[in-house]
Amino acid sequence: MTKNQTRANGLFGIYIHWPFCVAKCPYCDFNSHVPHARSIGGAFSEDEFIASYKIELAHYANLKPKQKVQSIFFGGGTPSLMSAKAVGAIIEEIHALYNVSDNAEITLEANPNSVEVAKFKDYKAAGINRVSVGVQSLRDDELIKLGRTHSVSEAKSAIAIAQSIFERSSFDLIYARPEQTLEDWRVELNEAIDMSAGHISLYQLTIEQGTRFFDLAYSGKLIMPNADLSADFYQLTNGICNEAFMPAYEISNHAIKGEESLHNLLYWRYGEYAGIGPGAHSRLVLDNVRHALDNERLPHIWHNKVSNIGHGIVTNDKLTYEEEGDEYLLMGLRLSEGIDPKRFEQLSGRALDKNKIKDLLGYGYVEHLNNGNLRVTNSGFSVLDAVVADLAA
Ligand SMILES: C[S@@+](CC[C@H](N)C(=O)[O-])C[C@H]1O[C@@H](n2cnc3c(N)ncnc32)[C@H](O)[C@@H]1O
Ligand code: SF4
Repeated sequence: MTKNQTRANGLFGIYIHWPFCVAKCPYCDFNSHVPHARSIGGAFSEDEFIASYKIELAHYANLKPKQKVQSIFFGGGTPSLMSAKAVGAIIEEIHALYNVSDNAEITLEANPNSVEVAKFKDYKAAGINRVSVGVQSLRDDELIKLGRTHSVSEAKSAIAIAQSIFERSSFDLIYARPEQTLEDWRVELNEAIDMSAGHISLYQLTIEQGTRFFDLAYSGKLIMPNADLSADFYQLTNGICNEAFMPAYEISNHAIKGEESLHNLLYWRYGEYAGIGPGAHSRLVLDNVRHALDNERLPHIWHNKVSNIGHGIVTNDKLTYEEEGDEYLLMGLRLSEGIDPKRFEQLSGRALDKNKIKDLLGYGYVEHLNNGNLRVTNSGFSVLDAVVADLAA
């Protein structure tokens, strides 16, 4: 890539991380904290935290003044614990600092507890135009095992209310759970599709270090599906979703045509994003160099840092061309549209290895599309990590 060619692709989004939850789910290793717990330094005030979000937004906006924004995503943690006033104040601040597209997608992740769902109308008035509800399972006994604080009937009502208020909505389910059979999942997934408004996120349960599920799995008290069964779960999921015209546009995200999440696509198409809040990550092209920035994870320390120095950034690394190429593969190969080999070459400074592609084509793990893109096949997705590692090496 010459010095004049931009490493950015024009896609830019803002991620707002709200790190608080009512309770910690036993499988979750996201940066989430129960307010008043010692880890966040005792009591917290929403107003004071929102003041810090505004300060940090201004810091990031100064790094890329008047940047055009296509999407905003409130994730967590549980952003539906925020008041609509706080959500509105952040959206207003983003409008003041950035050049937000008229048709920007503005999503908020919501837990289906009734108190939170009661705020949906006010969230819409505050500027949210899409919600993603964390349903996780349509079986009450499974919700209990997952440590969730809502029932199936609350989840169904949250989906219905979301669909009556917002033009666009989605919900998340976790599958390949301990003791779940393929038949159980077939029935549950079909129920979910019948309820969906055209977008669902379907995640296979992963066991993350540092979680209660990790300890249980380690001590043999939680038996996870083996690799073969996991692959069967994945194939079954794709088969059912394809039949319902909700193919995977990304490995875990399914949508009817036109309902794909712009914000999700922005990550996987290797766009830029400013991550605001405790533990948020960013990728920004500054002076034509891609930077990876990470914020302090602990909410009260992040808050103090922002109050004192105007941001909570703890690392700011300039990515090498090789690292950019690797990240582009890691993100883009999750997409059904695949990656553009020319963009890979522009970013990394080297062409993809023809012999490796030939081998992967031979195994049936990748295929070329008519537009020249290279994508992972259905069978390749079962060994995605190995395919990415092979091409990146
Ligand atoms: C971090 S949560 C935030 C949303 C919200 N707090 C909730 O719980 O619904 C985002 C999504 O990640 C998924 N998730 C979190 N931990 C997971 C795990 N260990 N395995 C699979 N999916 C997971 C869940 O589906 C969840 O909806
Ligand atoms: S899954 Fe959601 S609600 Fe549960 S701890 Fe993680 S972020 Fe919080």
